[in-house]
Amino acid sequence: MNNIISWSVEDEAVIATNTDATECKRCAVELGYWKDEYITYFAKHVDRKAPEINRGYYARVKAIEMFIHQFLERCGTKCQIINLGCGYDTLYWRLKDTTQAVSNFVELDFPSVISKKCHTIKRNKQLLEKICNEDGEIVLRSGDLHADGYHLVGCDLSNVPETARKLAAAGVNTDSPTLVLAECVLVYLRPDAADALLAHLASSFPRLLLLLYEQCNLDDKFGEVMVRNLNLRGCSLAGARQCGKPEAQAQRMLAAGFETARCWDMRAVWRALPEEDRARVEAIEMLDERELLHQLHAHYAITVATRGELFADIDLNC
Ligand SMILES: C[S@@+](CC[C@H](N)C(=O)[O-])C[C@H]1O[C@@H](n2cnc3c(N)ncnc32)[C@H](O)[C@@H]1O
Repeated sequence: MNNIISWSVEDEAVIATNTDATECKRCAVELGYWKDEYITYFAKHVDRKAPEINRGYYARVKAIEMFIHQFLERCGTKCQIINLGCGYDTLYWRLKDTTQAVSNFVELDFPSVISKKCHTIKRNKQLLEKICNEDGEIVLRSGDLHADGYHLVGCDLSNVPETARKLAAAGVNTDSPTLVLAECVLVYLRPDAADALLAHLASSFPRLLLLLYEQCNLDDKFGEVMVRNLNLRGCSLAGARQCGKPEAQAQRMLAAGFETARCWDMRAVWRALPEEDRARVEAIEMLDERELLHQLHAHYAITVATRGELFADIDLNC
């Protein structure tokens, strides 16, 4: 059956946020904030970004990595990672280069993003060889890519039945310990759609760690300006009203059916990073706009929500 899919101008603007994120990551990687030998495949040319943007991205990438490490410490490699709104994230390849590659890694985004990511993977041996199983078999079906332990699938995350079908087709096992990652994604969904997706995840996976990174405190002056600026670029944050105080974000996860939930703004996350890491990145670039970084950190947060005893003690200060 042929699906006729049409994209609104707003969807296009949301999709473009992925290009933006990838370019920012490449810029920070080139300056030495962290290592990622795969990002260059997904962002070819980038302009230099402001130091506070680079440092903000570093804090985000490093903190997410620390939580993933805690997840893997608890369940070893017999587990799965689901990356919602993955964009051109290179996490799969970075994990493959460690001893921490997981049994199944599933990435979801709009079909147009998936098809571009798929195209880039197919054209670059360094990406492709980490996906091929021993027989080198990759199945391309309806625009999706399926390999042994890696699946790249297109869907609209605001459609829960479609998302559930895609996860099943990607071999997701609801009994397996599962990490769901959503970095700057749910805020683009209508609140009712995001809540339905969260409730679906919480009710389907008894051993679940959810890591969310997105805006918070959007109800203050600085937050209003952030939302207005994005609106001017044609990108509306449909879920902006859900991005209030960190405590409210944690409460939202409990209401969706998670057993534990905590949320920290990035000021707290930055303070919790190892001192030597902070000192290293602080020496990379001079920061003229210290107040701006402080404001940015006050308007992004990481939420950790869990189901099952295995992950109940996962914390920022571990
Ligand atoms: C800001 S980018 C973040 C990409 C990636 N998570 C990262 O951190 O680099 C947001 C991503 O969410 C995806 N996205 C937003 N709404 C979506 C939806 N309803 N269904 C599928 N993907 C969606 C966009 O296409 C885009 O790739």
